[in-house]
Amino acid sequence: AIEDKRVPVIWAEFQGCSGDSEAFLRANQPTAGDIILDVISLEYSEVIMAAAGHQAEEAKKQAMQKYKGQYVLVVEGSIPKGDGGAYCTVSGQSAVDSCTELVKNAAATICVGSCSSFGGVPAAAPNPTGAVSVTDLVPGAPVVKLPGCPVNAVNLTATIVHFITFGKLPATDSLGRPKFAYGKRIHDNCERRGHFDAGQYAETFGDEGHRKGYCLYKLGCKGPETFHNCPTVRYNEGVSWPVMSGHGCIGCSEPQFWDTMSPFYRR
Ligand code: SF4
Ligand code: F3S
Repeated sequence: AIEDKRVPVIWAEFQGCSGDSEAFLRANQPTAGDIILDVISLEYSEVIMAAAGHQAEEAKKQAMQKYKGQYVLVVEGSIPKGDGGAYCTVSGQSAVDSCTELVKNAAATICVGSCSSFGGVPAAAPNPTGAVSVTDLVPGAPVVKLPGCPVNAVNLTATIVHFITFGKLPATDSLGRPKFAYGKRIHDNCERRGHFDAGQYAETFGDEGHRKGYCLYKLGCKGPETFHNCPTVRYNEGVSWPVMSGHGCIGCSEPQFWDTMSPFYRR
């Protein structure tokens, strides 16, 4: 028999919108297909897997037992702790119990998107479901965070490949984000930065400055406070990113951005 050296991956989704799964499916270099077929062995993913219902649950349980201490867990979505975990259950098991069990049995956990990393939109004030991040739920576990709304698939692929190559998670900043992806401010790599330095700003959406690619600071851009590699890797196969398309950064990779970065359209 040919030995399968691909790393087993369980992708769990809790209080999320599947935006990170969608972003992953649009990965291009390599494609999601290449990653799933050559690099990882995706044992469970509600969005991608063919199985459903009890069969899917069985696949998750078997993978967790068979690859205990070896699998990489990807978590998408926050975990609602309020009212005994009643706000999110999968197959009768609360996200609180399911996530705790999955994290404790994993070799490493990768949080994709801002919800699993920091609580994200579900945790925005007044946080009606008591949504928390993975590290709030299970402190001390080996976890790396790839916040963003959604995650950039390039950073997810790089993190997985780093883990496979070196057997450990990449070096992180104080918030648990890998330095290779979150080490620089948006503002320092932005293609509109020359206009900022020259004092050339778009004053309203659609005005002449906006059409000429002037800086979006006065339209609320949070690039100066945000750490993420969007200007260099971009989204959608490197095609574009928010500021390039004419919209200011809303700081989606920072903790509690929904509360701390709003109002999004004013400084
Ligand atoms: Fe900085 Fe935003 Fe202006 Fe770019 S558009 S230079 S990130 S303030
Ligand atoms: Fe998010 Fe700002 Fe990048 S809004 S996607 S961190 S440009």
